[in-house]
Amino acid sequence: MKIAVLPGDGIGPEIMAQALKALKALDLRFEAEQAPVGGAAYEVAGHPLPEATLALAKAADAVLFGAVGDWKYDTLERALRPEQAILGLRKHLQLFANFRPAICYEQLTAASSLKPELVAGLDILIIRELTGDIYFGQPRGRRVAADGAFAGAEEAFDTMRYTRPEIERIAHVAFQAARKRSKRLTSVDKANVLETFQFWKDVVTEVHAQYPDVALDHMYVDNAAMQLVRAPKSFDVIVTGNMFGDILSDEAAMLTGSIGMLPSASLDAAAKGLYEPSHGSAPDIAGKGVANPLATILSAAMMLRFSLNQAAAADRIEAAVKNVLSQGLRTADIHSAGTTQVGTEAMGDAVVAALKRQG
Ligand code: IPM
Ligand code: MG
Repeated sequence: MKIAVLPGDGIGPEIMAQALKALKALDLRFEAEQAPVGGAAYEVAGHPLPEATLALAKAADAVLFGAVGDWKYDTLERALRPEQAILGLRKHLQLFANFRPAICYEQLTAASSLKPELVAGLDILIIRELTGDIYFGQPRGRRVAADGAFAGAEEAFDTMRYTRPEIERIAHVAFQAARKRSKRLTSVDKANVLETFQFWKDVVTEVHAQYPDVALDHMYVDNAAMQLVRAPKSFDVIVTGNMFGDILSDEAAMLTGSIGMLPSASLDAAAKGLYEPSHGSAPDIAGKGVANPLATILSAAMMLRFSLNQAAAADRIEAAVKNVLSQGLRTADIHSAGTTQVGTEAMGDAVVAALKRQG
């Protein structure tokens, strides 16, 4: 097994170090090779996703990714900004299926901005299409408006589009995931306004015919955003497009009290994947040793389960994380009265100690 380790920018290197420690403590046989990505790669190679990094990611069985981005690159041309690294990896590795679980850990219910009874036991899964939609649709750019109220004015435009096969394959992934859970799937669209999402809704409805055991409902994205804060537990699995999924997954993550706890997986058709915490590079706290490494550690667990066929090892990591939370250990982002605040490294060490105690 070969893992490509791409720590990236901001808190990326600190949290990645903890995930690698946890993986090492499992005594599995794997080879991990590191490469720069994002702003860190721009600094050394002049590009956020250098050829060598992409080649390593392609050759590996799985990619463990930290985070990319820093305000200091905001003025670079778009193609050189750190975010292009993760977008490029998704596109080149054809990682079209993004799994973003939003789980509210019993020990962290109080950290949610919602009332405890609304989020206690929350366990939903957002499946976001990751390689299409307005994120990648061509054409895009700047031009002079040819028509409309301001014809002749400078304008910018992007293209929202989905082909039938792109919708079908993500729908299959979502129905199959729902089948393994409560057999309820909500497809989120904007069919009342957008042609692209009327098509999305029609194709998901067609694919549903192959999954009669799964209950499907459709919801407009604005309503879904509202229902997520009104009654989040009414959802189980949500499937949606790239842009709506970007927005709803941040909303869902925050319901759980801390985005610092949530892993994610981005998979191709053969379940090769890239695993990354749902949070970003947090440049404001980089290098301070206070970042929460648990989302990255849990991403490593997802990697073991989905791409490396090591479900038992994944269970061990997840149990160790629950164990440290039960001990009352908290990084700053999830700290509350009566718990013990620890830094990034101490949290990683505690997970390793919990793994060792499992025997
Ligand atoms: C995410 C991030 C990315 C996205 C950015 C960093 C390009 O927000 O993974 O959700 O928009 O997909
Ligand atoms: Mg996002």
